[in-house]
Amino acid sequence: MTNNELEEWLSRPTESVVNSLQRIDGDILILGAGGKMGPTLARMARRATSADRRIMAVSRFSSTTARKNLEQHGIDAIPCDLLNRHAVQQLPDALNIIFMAGQKFGTTDAPEQTWMINSVLPTVVAERFSQSRIVVFSTGCVYPLTSAATGGSVETDSLTPPGEYAYSCIARERVFSHYSRTAGTPILLFRLNYAIDLRYGVLHDIAQKVWRGQPVDVSAGHVNVIWQGDANARALQCLELTSSPPATLNVTGRECISVRWLAERLGNLLGKSPVFMGSSTACTWLSNASKSFELLGDVSVSLDAMLEATAAWIQSSGVSLGKPTHFEATNGKF
Ligand SMILES: NC(=O)c1ccc[n+]([C@@H]2O[C@H](COP(=O)([O-])OP(=O)(O)OC[C@H]3O[C@@H](n4cnc5c(N)ncnc54)[C@H](OP(=O)(O)O)[C@@H]3O)[C@@H](O)[C@H]2O)c1
Repeated sequence: MTNNELEEWLSRPTESVVNSLQRIDGDILILGAGGKMGPTLARMARRATSADRRIMAVSRFSSTTARKNLEQHGIDAIPCDLLNRHAVQQLPDALNIIFMAGQKFGTTDAPEQTWMINSVLPTVVAERFSQSRIVVFSTGCVYPLTSAATGGSVETDSLTPPGEYAYSCIARERVFSHYSRTAGTPILLFRLNYAIDLRYGVLHDIAQKVWRGQPVDVSAGHVNVIWQGDANARALQCLELTSSPPATLNVTGRECISVRWLAERLGNLLGKSPVFMGSSTACTWLSNASKSFELLGDVSVSLDAMLEATAAWIQSSGVSLGKPTHFEATNGKF
């Protein structure tokens, strides 16, 4: 599979997305679109809707490739630092916002930057777009660690995670919730766990280690994963599930999967014997996404299909973004 074929797959709209976007009106503005997920999400929105609907992607565009890629696919790319109130005021109005800006890595070394992006930037956006529907990308890291035996955290669980990054993500949720309650902004908090692209993600990280004969760290014990195309589709579908006070949804696959099992399965596909390090902790970050399956239906790509595609990608020296997920970290330090 080529890079272009992969991006076509990750941005392929499901019938449910097409139908869902037909039921709501207005343009779509994606904020923080220059990262790992934004380009394929924006392209899916473009492919799922008629040409008269504007799809706009806002980011600082630290990666010029992301900007070019978006423009090539009929998306209006708008460079903007979302911490700049004046610049945010100048952004076009849109009835639908997908909010994806965030910072995770580097928190331990520069925590103030993480707090600015994850908690101050949301105030700027929530004030500017109080009249729009907003799907806010959040994370399963807002929950405390839990064991696979529980089936994962559910949306009503208390938010008492380890580590400063996770608390900055709670701040992001609280800021948006405040504006949803006080300004009536329809919002959905989209708690995502581990999107799978072939160029990054938990399966990519494990497969790369197995392929190179490097030890796979099993400290985390279990993980949740979802195909990035399915995560993109769910985010777009969630626009019509926004509400005031805000709705909350865990978004990931159905299973809590053993890291050891994943490495063994990938080893099997790659013709390699995995080597392991660390000992599995009883508790890690795991979410129960049952509610998302009830509301949005099944995913289009199974775990087995993700594993096969990942192994084939690694075997054929497919591109790596060089952005490890650090899924092994269970102390909340990033
Ligand atoms: N991928 C996953 O598996 C996963 C799992 C759980 C949660 N999430 C969350 O979901 C969201 C999207 O995921 P992702 O993987 O695409 O994240 P990502 O790669 O970190 O992309 C987020 C993008 O936000 C943009 N951004 C940051 N500060 C900004 C600012 N001041 N103004 C404008 N744009 C800014 C950055 O692009 P520029 O440099 O171009 O500005 C960055 O690349 C993130 O918030 C992430 O934390 C992702």
